[in-house]
Amino acid sequence: MDLSHSIVHLKRKLKPHYGAGKTIGLVPTMGNLHDGHMCLVQESLKDNDCTVVSIFINPLQFNPDEDLATYPKTLDEDTKKLRESGCHYVFIPDTQEIYQGNIDSHTQVYVPGLSKLLCGKTRPGHFEGVATIVNKLLNIVRPHNAYFGLKDYQQFLIVKRMVSDLQIGTRIVGLDTIRDPGGLALSSRNSFLSELEIQKARQLYSSLKQVASALDQGESNFLDLEKQAYNRLTVAGLNPDYFSICNSETLMPATAADLDIVILAAAYLGSVRLIDNLHVSLAPQTQATQVIE
Ligand code: PAF
Repeated sequence: MDLSHSIVHLKRKLKPHYGAGKTIGLVPTMGNLHDGHMCLVQESLKDNDCTVVSIFINPLQFNPDEDLATYPKTLDEDTKKLRESGCHYVFIPDTQEIYQGNIDSHTQVYVPGLSKLLCGKTRPGHFEGVATIVNKLLNIVRPHNAYFGLKDYQQFLIVKRMVSDLQIGTRIVGLDTIRDPGGLALSSRNSFLSELEIQKARQLYSSLKQVASALDQGESNFLDLEKQAYNRLTVAGLNPDYFSICNSETLMPATAADLDIVILAAAYLGSVRLIDNLHVSLAPQTQATQVIE
């Protein structure tokens, strides 16, 4: 496994693959790799001749009051896991290498609409930071396929839109959320949680499942369902940011006409921000047969 800290080094290593018609898969990460990340790596290894994993904690996607300074860093464990997985290249640039000393005046990529909803409301500029770094990584690696976890569903949609709008020739692959046995979505930020907080955090997925089953049973008062779920989270000791039933493509509030729905939630436990979501495909209502006498 080759480790690169510089863009020039990585590009030099990848160059022979383009000429030889080999396929390249990219898994962008911020490190502290868990089973969710490793599933992305496995999928990339299956689909491509070679796999690049990037590890970069991107300051541009953190707000000043967020956890950039304390974001978990486990580089030795991460590289060990990647070596054992059969990953071919690891790209570990520092901020200087990526932003060349001008992070404040750096060009940014903005995906309108989607970026301002849900997490974008509470984390202004976050998705511009994500779109910018993903765009840069795609330009550096030029992968055929890039892999993202669907836990960050809004991020996934934004990256897909960016790639389509900017005609970047990479296929964006979204993979299902990996959960712990109690249903908690795996996330690097879970390492900040105590055992008691983990029990509380599991309420996020339970509440998503409760609402999904209500929708399945034909409940159509979405606002009421959202309010009840929000209150349940508060009672469970979480501090919810939003609980929203949305159209799965636009992330706008779902209407009775929507059949493909995603329920998204974000909540704080202390200073730890947790997000999760659940897809629900509703069967079209069968038309009541009119009896003509
Ligand atoms: O999902 C993440 O870990 C990050 O947002 C990403 C895609 C690696 C960009 O920094």
